[in-house]
Amino acid sequence: MKPPLRSLLGIEQLTTAQIESILALARRMDPSRPSQLLRGKRVALLFYESSTRTRTSFEFAAKTLGATTTLVTPVSSSIEKGESLIDTGWTVANLGADAIVMRHANSGAAYLLARYVRVPIVNAGDGMHQHPSQALLDALTITNHKKRLNGLRVVIVGDVYHSRVARSNAELLSRFGADIVFCGPPDFVPEISASLAPGVTACHDLNIALQGADVVMALRVQKERLAGKDISVEDYIANYQVTPQRMKLAKPDAVLMHPGPVIRGMELTSEVADGPQSCIHEQVRNGVKTRMAILAMLLGAAR
Ligand code: NCD
Repeated sequence: MKPPLRSLLGIEQLTTAQIESILALARRMDPSRPSQLLRGKRVALLFYESSTRTRTSFEFAAKTLGATTTLVTPVSSSIEKGESLIDTGWTVANLGADAIVMRHANSGAAYLLARYVRVPIVNAGDGMHQHPSQALLDALTITNHKKRLNGLRVVIVGDVYHSRVARSNAELLSRFGADIVFCGPPDFVPEISASLAPGVTACHDLNIALQGADVVMALRVQKERLAGKDISVEDYIANYQVTPQRMKLAKPDAVLMHPGPVIRGMELTSEVADGPQSCIHEQVRNGVKTRMAILAMLLGAAR
C-alpha cells in the first residue's frame, strides 16, 4: 500500500485511488459551513506569481476548516532582498507553518522545496509544469455534469505549450479514459505535446477538433506570446477563438470551461463565457471545495 500523501506536487505522483478519494472528499465539503477540522493548523501561502482564484480559494478553504493562513509574496518580504526559495521555505516552516501552498514561475520549484522542508507542500502552479489542484477541481466540475470521465472527448484549446493547466488536466483526465485533444496553432500545440500521455492527440484545426466534443476547455492566450510567431492576433482569433458558432460543432450538451483569468474577445467571446454551456463560475466554486479536501487530506485530518 502507498503511504499517505505527504505533499501535492503533480498529477503524476497521485494514484488513481488517491485522485478518487480527493474528489469524493471534495464533493462532501461545504464551504458555507465552517468547521474546526484543521483548528490550530497554520497554512502559509507562498506566492511568487500573481493569482486571484487559486490564492483566495486556498485561503478560504483553510479558514473554513478552522486553520489560520498567512500570505508571503515577493513584495514586502525578504524575497525582495534576495533570499532564495529554499531559505524562504525553511524560514516559513520554522516560523511554524504546518503546510506551504506555493506558486512559482519556475517549473519544478515546488518539487525542489519539498525536498528541503519537512512540511507538506501544495503546488499551486509551477511555471509551465503542473497545477494539480486545478485539474482536480476541473475533474470535479466535469463529473458533476457528465457523471464519468471515461470516453469523453475533451478539447483543450489555446496556448497549450505554456499551460500547466493543460498538462495537469491531460494527465488526470486521460488516466480515467478521456480522449484529450490539444488544439491551437503549431507554435502553441507542437506535435510532441501529444506524447504527454496515451489518449492525448494534437490538432491544429479547431473546427475539426470540436466535432463531437463533450468538454471544451479554453485557455488564456497572452497576446505578447504571439509576437514573433507565425500567427497574428487577428489570425488567432479568426481560427481559434471559441465562438457560439463553433460551440455548435460540439455535442449539444457540451460544457465550456476556462481556468481563468478569461481574456474576453481573445480566446473566447463573452457570449460563450456567459452562455448556458459555461461552467466557469462553477469551476471557481469547486475550487474552494477541492482545496478544502486537499488541505484536509495533507494535514492528516481526513484520510
Ligand atoms: C491559471 C494559472 O495560473 O496557471 N489560472 C489559474 O490558476 N486558475 C491559468 C492562467 O493563468 O492562464
